[in-house]
Amino acid sequence: MVEQTLVLIKPDATKREIWLQIIDHYKQAGFFIKKTRLIPKMRKKDVRKFYHVHKDKPFFGRLVDFMSSGPAIALLIEGQNVVEEIRKLNGSTDPKKAEKKTIRKEFGKKGGEKHENAVHASDSLESAQREIKIFFSDK
Ligand code: RTP
Ligand code: MG
Repeated sequence: MVEQTLVLIKPDATKREIWLQIIDHYKQAGFFIKKTRLIPKMRKKDVRKFYHVHKDKPFFGRLVDFMSSGPAIALLIEGQNVVEEIRKLNGSTDPKKAEKKTIRKEFGKKGGEKHENAVHASDSLESAQREIKIFFSDK
């Protein structure tokens, strides 16, 4: 089934100026990037809304500060089974545990914190719909 998913290139990656390499990595892996959008800086209240499922987790405050610390880039990716396939290519949440050749293994911040994992991807069709609306509804 043709699906759409939302990837966010996170502030740790834009600050290290590796966002183009990350986009290239998705393209080289055969994914179709349908739309892109630069977000100069996410507002804290928008990050809280975006990651609301984690609001009671101990890392929530750190995550909100991190995600609002610099530019992010939103990618709308379309293709067969992309929700699952993109999460596979991204790899484990913690870059230290991410599998070889995954985005988080290659581009997660070396010696960084667990949250400095370069990318986000939607975890289900429902979250993909919700997240795409947040970043691309006016495009
Ligand atoms: P994402 O939502 O960003 O695609 O990542 P994910 O599904 O692999 O991981 P999730 O559990 O949804 O966590 C969301 C983001 O929170 C940060 N995090 N920090 N223990 C920690 O310090 C910790 N755990 C998670 C990461 O940036 C993670 O991507
Ligand atoms: Mg998640």
